[in-house]
Amino acid sequence: MSEQAYTSLASWWPVLSPPQDYDELAVLLMGVMQQGLTRPLKSFLELGSATGHLGSHVPEQIELVLNDIRPEMLEVSRALCPGREHVCGDLRTLNLDRRFDAVLIHDVLMYLLTPEDIEAAIQTAKRHLSPGGALLLVPDAVLETVQPGIAQGGGDSPDGRSARFLEWHHEPDAQGAFRVDFSFLLREANGEIHQVHDVHQLQAHPYALYERLLEEAGFELVDPGELAEVHGGLLILAKLTD
Ligand SMILES: C[S@@+](CC[C@H](N)C(=O)[O-])C[C@H]1O[C@@H](n2cnc3c(N)ncnc32)[C@H](O)[C@@H]1O
Repeated sequence: MSEQAYTSLASWWPVLSPPQDYDELAVLLMGVMQQGLTRPLKSFLELGSATGHLGSHVPEQIELVLNDIRPEMLEVSRALCPGREHVCGDLRTLNLDRRFDAVLIHDVLMYLLTPEDIEAAIQTAKRHLSPGGALLLVPDAVLETVQPGIAQGGGDSPDGRSARFLEWHHEPDAQGAFRVDFSFLLREANGEIHQVHDVHQLQAHPYALYERLLEEAGFELVDPGELAEVHGGLLILAKLTD
């Protein structure tokens, strides 16, 4: 696994996937977290927040802490989300010794390759939730829905850089493990273009695993209402019962 995408290419994410395109998604995810709460959402922790594209749309009056395992991603996020607290660390073991109304894990869970990793992520969320707090898990896919396919995108930045990418999601094995080949074409402001091939190993876990681990950890599943998924990602909303 190379994962240059989250290290040497970190500064390209605002070009590859423009943060302004995340406004509706951010509002929607905050609305879903609110559905899991019986009090107003005043604070949340985003685990695996990458370059802060969602966080950049969170209103100032909501306290938000952003976490990622890659310092390069957080450096970009600090510029996009000035004034927000950023914490570098593995979401499986993070312990900030404080609590939030909600925890969000969006588009990260497939990087956690084993059931033990998912359990550790749920325990991290639990450690950071106040009583009655809401946990919103948004895996890109689960074992029951994962499909081979391609995705593409890119953008043009006001700083003169442009970027395009193709993601090739290969056929998953029977357990839901699959490989994604990324091809990035990156054009510098001076017109120079370079190409990067990056390989990621991902895992689609069964829905029942999430259900079981959440219940064992003391969460109660909450129906996210008419919104069962966003952009292909499944919404798994749960509320801490103790
Ligand atoms: C696809 S990006 C996430 C995007 C972001 N959550 C969003 O919705 O815009 C995946 C991110 O997860 C981070 N990541 C992967 N494993 C992690 C872990 N164990 N702990 C914290 N972050 C992790 C990667 O560094 C990367 O920035």
